[in-house]
Amino acid sequence: MHINVEPSILYFGTPVALLSSMNEDGTVNVAPMSSVWWLGWNCMLGLGATGHTAQNLLRERECVLNLPAASNVEAVNQLALLTGSDPVPPHKLAKGYRHEKDKLGVAGMTVSPSERVRAPRIDQCPIQLEAVLETVHPFGHRPDKASTALAFEMRIVRAHVDETLLDTTAPNHIDPDLWRPLIMSFCQFYGLGGKLQHSTLAEIPEESYRPVAHMER
Ligand SMILES: Cc1cc2nc3c(=O)[nH]c(=O)nc-3n(C[C@H](O)[C@H](O)[C@H](O)COP(=O)(O)O)c2cc1C
Repeated sequence: MHINVEPSILYFGTPVALLSSMNEDGTVNVAPMSSVWWLGWNCMLGLGATGHTAQNLLRERECVLNLPAASNVEAVNQLALLTGSDPVPPHKLAKGYRHEKDKLGVAGMTVSPSERVRAPRIDQCPIQLEAVLETVHPFGHRPDKASTALAFEMRIVRAHVDETLLDTTAPNHIDPDLWRPLIMSFCQFYGLGGKLQHSTLAEIPEESYRPVAHMER
């Protein structure tokens, strides 16, 4: 039997991304997030509009989506309750957030330069996607209240993947049996189980989805 419920959040489970973005003073901010969905080489990021990362994205119009594996969970957890905003906004203070300038240091993470964007890539993340901002939309509309979030449509302009995740028989193919994403479900961390059964959709050759000239800016 199904019953009516009113969960305070509807976070049913999505992969975690660590967004690296440039601060106004040339230093790097990193923020964990998981409201992200993909279509081809574009993706949509859902972020609080006043957050430090949102402000960096609006100004710089680029970032790197670093995808942690399940094995990176401890480092990701170190980044929770930190913000690049100084002072910390009241709604975050009330939840226990504190300002941290050197989030990478706190998480024990290091960076390498990107090729197409100013924000650097996080070395410890097996997948690093350089991205440019295409459009921004207000998000979280309600009849009684102005929206407080933004949806950023990003286009990936360079993908770096740990070679141990690649299918040795097919170039450019990430083997889903080897890629173990970190999943956030209702604010808890999970990994993936194994493959369930044959996928009919996977019978379509993956190459048929390749976008034309996706690397151009
Ligand atoms: C695993 C995880 C997932 C998160 N997902 C999101 C998200 O999708 N969108 C968002 O705005 N904040 C999300 N947060 C909260 C941000 O990380 C938090 O607001 C942080 O302060 C952002 O850093 P910044 O203030 O330096 O931008 C998430 C936090 C964690 C730990």
